[in-house]
Amino acid sequence: MENKKFYVTTPIYYVNDVPHLGHAYTTVAADVIARYYRTKGYRVFFLTGTDEHGQKVEKAAKEKGLTPQQLADKVVVRFIDLWKKLNISNDDFIRTTQERHEKVVQEIWKKLEEKGDIYLGEYEGWYCIHCETFWPESQLVDGKCPDCGREVQKLKEESYFFRLSAYQDKLLEFYEKHPDFVQPPNRMNEVVSFVKQGLKDISISRTTFSWGIPVPTNPKHVIYVWFDALFNYITGAGYLSDEEKFRTFWPADLHLIGKDILRFHAIYWPAFLMAAGFEPPRKVFAHGWWTVEGKKMSKSLRNVVDPNFLIEKYGVDPFRYFILREVPFGLDGDFSHRAFIHRFNSDLVNDLGNLIKRSLSMAFKYFSGIVPDYSGSPDPEEKEYRENVLEKFNEFQKNIENVAYHKALVSLWDIISLANVYIDRSAPWNLKKENKIEKLSRVIFDLIETIRIVALGIYPFMPETSQRIWEQIGYTDKIENHTYEEVSFGRIEAGRKLNKPANLFERIDEKKALADLEKIMPAPEREEEKKEESMENIIDITQFAKVDLRVAKIIKAEKVPKSNKLIKLEIDVGELGRRTIVAGIAKHYSPEELPGKLIIVVANLKPAKLMGIESQGMLLAASRNGKLKLLTVEGEIEPGSKIS
Ligand code: ME8
Ligand code: MG
Repeated sequence: MENKKFYVTTPIYYVNDVPHLGHAYTTVAADVIARYYRTKGYRVFFLTGTDEHGQKVEKAAKEKGLTPQQLADKVVVRFIDLWKKLNISNDDFIRTTQERHEKVVQEIWKKLEEKGDIYLGEYEGWYCIHCETFWPESQLVDGKCPDCGREVQKLKEESYFFRLSAYQDKLLEFYEKHPDFVQPPNRMNEVVSFVKQGLKDISISRTTFSWGIPVPTNPKHVIYVWFDALFNYITGAGYLSDEEKFRTFWPADLHLIGKDILRFHAIYWPAFLMAAGFEPPRKVFAHGWWTVEGKKMSKSLRNVVDPNFLIEKYGVDPFRYFILREVPFGLDGDFSHRAFIHRFNSDLVNDLGNLIKRSLSMAFKYFSGIVPDYSGSPDPEEKEYRENVLEKFNEFQKNIENVAYHKALVSLWDIISLANVYIDRSAPWNLKKENKIEKLSRVIFDLIETIRIVALGIYPFMPETSQRIWEQIGYTDKIENHTYEEVSFGRIEAGRKLNKPANLFERIDEKKALADLEKIMPAPEREEEKKEESMENIIDITQFAKVDLRVAKIIKAEKVPKSNKLIKLEIDVGELGRRTIVAGIAKHYSPEELPGKLIIVVANLKPAKLMGIESQGMLLAASRNGKLKLLTVEGEIEPGSKIS
C-alpha cells in the first residue's frame, strides 16, 4: 500500500453567523476528497473549524448581549452538530481561541518582527467590518466597500504592518513555477495580474478594539483577524504541538475555499508562509457562489436551504450528491428545490436505484439470491463491458483528483448507464428462456460486480447509501474499510448470499413536495419577506407621485473646492425659482460643458449639506461600471416642467 499523505482544509468559518448552505458546500466537498484519499490508502488529515476573533464577531456578540467568547461557544456547537449530521469526517476541529493556536500565532509574530517583516507604523484608511478588510480610500466604490458594498469605517491608528511588498517577486516566481497553485485557471490569472499591479505592505494589527490575539511584543495591539486565522492551517497540522504530525502533513495539499476569500489564500497566505520559513500549500481551489432560487441568499431565503432542513426533507446523501453534482465545481450555481427533486428522481431513484433493483431481482429470480458461479470465460462483449466500466472508474479517479466533483459523478453515472444498457442488450430473461445458463451466470455476476464497484465509487460522496448498497450485495462489514485496489472484476465470491432488493430512495412527488415547501416556509419569515419585497421593489402611483420631478436648466457650474467629485450647480426650475444643487459628477463632466443643459431634478428632496454647501435638490443620472450620464430631455421644454 502506498504511504502517501493528503492534507485538506476548509475555511474556518466566522461565528457571527450560523452555518448555512455555503458553509456546508465547502465542507462536504472537503469531506468527499478526504474520504476518497483514505479509500486510496493515503494518510489523510482533514481540518475544519471556526474563526472566532475579530471585529465582526465582537460586534455580533455585542448586538446579542453576549461576550464574544460566549457567542463563539454557542455558535460553534451549531457547526459541530451540522457536520455530524452531514457525516463530515474531519480529523480535527480548530477554534482560533484555543491556546494551541494563539501560541502559534504569537510565536510566528515574534519571529517575523525580529526578522523585520513586521514593523510598526500608522494606518490611515478605511475598514470593512463585514469583510474584515482594510481598504485604501482610492479603492472604495462610492465610498463603500468594493467587495460587499457595505459602509466602511475610517481608521487612523498606530498599526503594525507586514512587509508584503518584499514578497511580490517571490510570489510571482512561485506562481510561475506552480501554475496550478490556484484553481480554476481563471482564478490563477486573476491572482497573478493582481500581484503584478504591485503589492503594498498590509496593516496587521489594531488598537481600537480588543477581541483578538494580543501582539506579544505590544499588547495594546490585537492581531488582525486574517493574520490570525490563516495560521490555523499550521496549528491544526501540529506545529508546536506535534512536530512529527506537522512534518508528515505540511504543506497542505488542498485548501478548499469560496472565491470570496481567494486573495487572502493565494497572496497573503503564501507570503506569510514564505516569511515564516514554511513551504506554501500545494493548491488553493476557489469554488463558486450559491444563490437560492435565483436570488442572493438573504436571511429569509436561507430557511428553505438551511442544510438541517434539507437533510430532514431529502436525506443526507441526496443533499451531498446534489450540491456537488448540480454545479461544476468552480462555477457559481443556483439552488432550486425543483432542480433538486429532478436530480433526486432521475439520478438516484431511476438510474442508481433501478440498476440495483433490477440486477438483484434477477439474481433472486435466476439464482435464488446467491452470487452465481462464474462459468466459462468472458466472451468479447463481456470483456468490452468490463473494460469500459474500469476505464470509467479510472476517469472518475482522475476527475476527483482534479477536484472536478461533478465530472467524477458523471463518470460514475456513466458506469451505471453502461450497466443498464448491458442488461437491455444481454437480455438475461431471454438467456434464461434459451437455457444459456453459463452466459446468464456471467452476466449476473458482472452486474453484481458492477454494483460493488459503483458502491466503492460513490462512497466518498454518499457514505450511508454506499453502505446500504454494500449490505444489499451481502457484505456485513464497513465499506469504508475497503480500498480502490478492490476495483476489478472477479473478486466477489460465488455463493455469497445477497439481500432482497429494497428501494434505495423513494420517488419524490414533485408537485406535492413543492406545495409542502410553501407551507413549511416559516410563516412569519414569509410575511416579512413579502413585505420586504414589496417595500423594496414595488410602489404604487401615489407613492411615485410624491416625487416632484422637474426639468431644470443649468445656469452656472463650478467645481467644489477640495473635492474631486462634486460640482456646484446653479439651476433654473421655472416657477420654483433658482436653486443651488451639489452633484457628484466631477469625474464625468467638466463645469464648462454643463451650462445650458436641460436636466431632470428631484425638486422636493429635503435639502442636505455637502462640503458646507446646501444642496436644494438632486439631479438624475444613469450610471454603470464607472460610467455616468446625465438625464436630459429630448428637445426644448421650459424649465420647471413636471415629469410624470
Ligand atoms: O471568510 N456560496 O468565513 P465565512 C458558496 N473566517 N460558498 C459560500 C457561500 C455561498 N453563498 N457563503 C459562504 C471567512 N460560503 C473567514 C475564513 S479561512 C482562514 C478564514 C463558504 O464564515 C465559502 O467557503 O465568511 C466561503 O469562502 C466561506 O463560506 C466564508 O465563510
Ligand atoms: Mg464571509
